Amino acid sequence: MNVKIAPSILACDFARVGEAIAMLEKSGADLVHCDVMDGTFVPPITFGAQMVGAIRPLTRLPLDCHLMVEHPWTQIASFAEAGADLITVHAEACGETLVSRLREIKALGVKAGAVINPETPAEALFGAAEIADLLLIMSVHPGWGGQKFIPESLNKIEALRGYAVRIGRGDLDIEVDGGITEGNAADAVLAGANVLVAGSAVFRSADPAATIRRLRGA
Ligand code: DX5
Ligand code: ZN
Repeated sequence: MNVKIAPSILACDFARVGEAIAMLEKSGADLVHCDVMDGTFVPPITFGAQMVGAIRPLTRLPLDCHLMVEHPWTQIASFAEAGADLITVHAEACGETLVSRLREIKALGVKAGAVINPETPAEALFGAAEIADLLLIMSVHPGWGGQKFIPESLNKIEALRGYAVRIGRGDLDIEVDGGITEGNAADAVLAGANVLVAGSAVFRSADPAATIRRLRGA
């Protein structure tokens, strides 16, 4: 599977988001990762659907919206309306309703993703793997960029890629999020991830285009 790079705008200068989007497009990013935080599911607050609506007209890149929010189902319609291409909700926030929330997202014509935190076992996404467009494995504890990659995440990526293949969904996108660098991107891909979120690695780079190419393994 070709590897896609999804830089996270959490790492950009919030006073110049428009310029950041233009830079990502110019640098060859495949998606824009939008880290939505509500101050309850995770301590920080970042932005909501209004920000997604503001950046929508600036780029044709898919907007990958990672909802780190307490009741994500209350936000699905507004993110779809704002122009999200992919909405990813946490298994920890949805519990037993996870699969039905994915159906709600898909019913709006938006791709649906399910995500787990480092402390949640891979099995928590087995049900979602049947219908999701993407599974996301957090390789840091959510809330902040610039953290260190948690190496145990590789086992979960492997387990979920293996499970996806076993149920005939080998082409399922598996995204890894947090602490991705040029030093560990290849390990994540080897384990079975094909979408890499990279905030700091891209926005702190002197040459984002080269960094994106190297993360992709080009
Ligand atoms: C953390 C976010 C991640 C983070 C990635 O809660 O979900 O997307 O912004 O940032 P880096 O790549 O700097 O770890
Ligand atoms: Zn994220």
